[in-house]
Amino acid sequence: MNKIKILGVVGSLRKDSYNHFALRAAQELLPEGAVLDLVELHGIPVFNQDDEMTPSASVLAFKKQILVADAILFATPEYNYSVPGGLKNAIDWASRPYGDSVWLGKPAAIMGASVGSLGTARAQYHLRQILVSLNMPVVNQPEVMIGNAAKAFSLDGKLTDDKTKQVIQQLLIALVTLAKSNQ
Ligand code: FNR
Repeated sequence: MNKIKILGVVGSLRKDSYNHFALRAAQELLPEGAVLDLVELHGIPVFNQDDEMTPSASVLAFKKQILVADAILFATPEYNYSVPGGLKNAIDWASRPYGDSVWLGKPAAIMGASVGSLGTARAQYHLRQILVSLNMPVVNQPEVMIGNAAKAFSLDGKLTDDKTKQVIQQLLIALVTLAKSNQ
């Protein structure tokens, strides 16, 4: 049987991003029969609707990665109580032009890491609202909100917190189950 292909969207451009580290940790925690590739958002231009019929090569490549994936795993930072502009921008590109959204019906899950104690809770609820607009089925539970991220990861970016590992594992199982039911 073919493996479930998950695409992890790294919501931060930062070199030592905790959200990137969290997705790398997820790659080590996958259930049987699933693979997780990561996509970064460097090089995606600022969205301008005047250009939506002629997207850049970076946007086309991003859309293709989403298209061939069976499921999406977003890892979002929280910027001023919401998702970073760069992540929203990339989501907008991949939703356009009208009628050519690659998000439609794609199963998804959300996680996030922040240095604050709420672990991106507010950003994640904004992201959920965006995914409603894109008509994506999204895993409701568990919620993976990694607060005080500096303590959850070692200096070289390894996730050290066992409870967080467990909840990421549960999220991945739920995402793979959702993706299978969608096939
Ligand atoms: C932040 N940060 C932050 N943290 C948080 O818990 N709630 C917030 O609203 C914000 N707001 C915010 C705004 C901006 C512009 C920046 C740059 C940062 C801190 C944030 O959690 C921290 O920078 C994380 O390290 C970002 O995630 P990555 O880049 O490590 O994945």
